Amino acid sequence: MSDTSREKVMEKELVEANSDDLVDPVEQQPNFYRLESRIALAGHPIHAMLVSFPIALTACVLGADTFYWWTGDLFWARAGLWAAGTAFLFGVVAGITGTVELLSVPGIRQRSASWTHFIVAVMLLSILGMNWGYRLLGYEEAVLPFGIMFSAFAVGFAGFTGWHGGKLVFEYQIGVSSTGSS
Ligand code: HEM
Repeated sequence: MSDTSREKVMEKELVEANSDDLVDPVEQQPNFYRLESRIALAGHPIHAMLVSFPIALTACVLGADTFYWWTGDLFWARAGLWAAGTAFLFGVVAGITGTVELLSVPGIRQRSASWTHFIVAVMLLSILGMNWGYRLLGYEEAVLPFGIMFSAFAVGFAGFTGWHGGKLVFEYQIGVSSTGSS
């Protein structure tokens, strides 16, 4: 047996021997398992309803930029400006609902994964704001080359943020109904 696998076996034995004595201090905090959404309509989290808009609109900006590059039609540059602005504004509104949820629900606040999502999401909002602000200075000239690059970066980052948000819900059960019956 190699040194590395022997070390792994010893580590596993040690963890098993002490597992009864191990206490996670974060898990001991009151209300650690209170994860139900508070910012909800009839039990449906508003944040989850809103996030589709910035995600879809971010993809629309990249689509509009690609069509402008392809056709040179000014319509697509203007469509890109509108999509960039609405992606940012819907993102801010979604971010506000997420932040209120994060701060007001103890179990969400106590999990580090929620804060990771918050940081990644605020970075995304900065990219969306930059993409919109840059276009406000001249929406046609903005598209090539930098606008389309910002848009591609924003799409990748929106995917990362959305994937991480999904992880909160599907892996950590954050924001879900505690009983599963309502
Ligand atoms: C800026 C602050 C943000 C905070 C604090 C935040 C927080 C949260 C929380 C607590 C959840 C768990 C579900 C819930 O309780 O509603 C969640 C889910 C999610 N978040 Fe965010 N969020 C933020 C911004 C964003 C943004 C800007 C996006 C994407 C554009 C996003 C995408 C998602 C997605 C896709 C989910 C999973 C929804 C589901 O599948 O049900 N979040 N977020």
